[in-house]
Amino acid sequence: MRTTSTADPAFVKKYASLLPLLREREGEKRFAHTLAVAGECLSLAALFGLSEEKTEELYAAGLLHDITKNCGEAEQRALAGSLGLSLTKEDLASAPVLHALTGAALIRRDFPSSGPAVANAVEAHTTGKPGMTLLDKLLFLADTIEPTRKQTVCRAARERFYRALESASDRPALLDRTILELLESTKAHLAEEGFPIHPLTQQTIDWLKQSRMELQERK
Ligand SMILES: [Fe+2]
Ligand SMILES: [Fe+2]
Repeated sequence: MRTTSTADPAFVKKYASLLPLLREREGEKRFAHTLAVAGECLSLAALFGLSEEKTEELYAAGLLHDITKNCGEAEQRALAGSLGLSLTKEDLASAPVLHALTGAALIRRDFPSSGPAVANAVEAHTTGKPGMTLLDKLLFLADTIEPTRKQTVCRAARERFYRALESASDRPALLDRTILELLESTKAHLAEEGFPIHPLTQQTIDWLKQSRMELQERK
C-alpha cells in the first residue's frame, strides 16, 4: 500500500483527517485500494502536467471515489432516495453504476468544498461519460490500473499503458485509447456474463471513437 512521503504535495496532509472515516466506511481491503487509487492519481497528475489545483482535485476524487461502494443494494437505493437522486431502470440494474451515482451525490452533499469537478469525476468513474474531462479520464484510469489490482485485465492494462507512455508523443491520445480499450473490454465481459450494459458505457465508447476520428481527420 502506498503511504504518504515527503515528496507528496503539501495538500496531501489536508486530507489525512478523512482517512479514518474512509477506512471505517470501506473496510481494510477497499481502503487499501482507495489509497492506491489516490497515489496513482498523484503519479498520473504529474505525467499529464496537471496544475496543483487540478492535482488536488484528482487526489480528492481518488480518495472519495468508492465512498459508498461497501453499501449493499438496499442501502444504495435508500441512500439514493435520501440524496434525492432520480435513477433510471438501467442505473438500478447495475450495482457498480449505483455506487458511482450515490458516491457523487454524497460528495456534493457532505463535501461541497471539494468543488464540482471532484463529484463529477466520481460520477463518471465506472461508465465514463461523453465529454469526459481530463480529470474524469485520469480518475477512471487510476481506478483500473492502480498497482494493487490483482485482476489480469487491470494488470495487463497497467503494463500496456506505462509501456506505451515511454514512447507516446501524444499522451492525451494514449489516455483516450486506453479508456476506450477498457470500456470495450468491460462491455464484452458484461455481454459474456449476461449482465446489462449501461447506456453511458456505450455512449462513451461512441464519443471516444468519434473524437479519435475527428482528430485523425484534422491531421
Ligand atoms: Fe468504484
Ligand atoms: Fe475503485
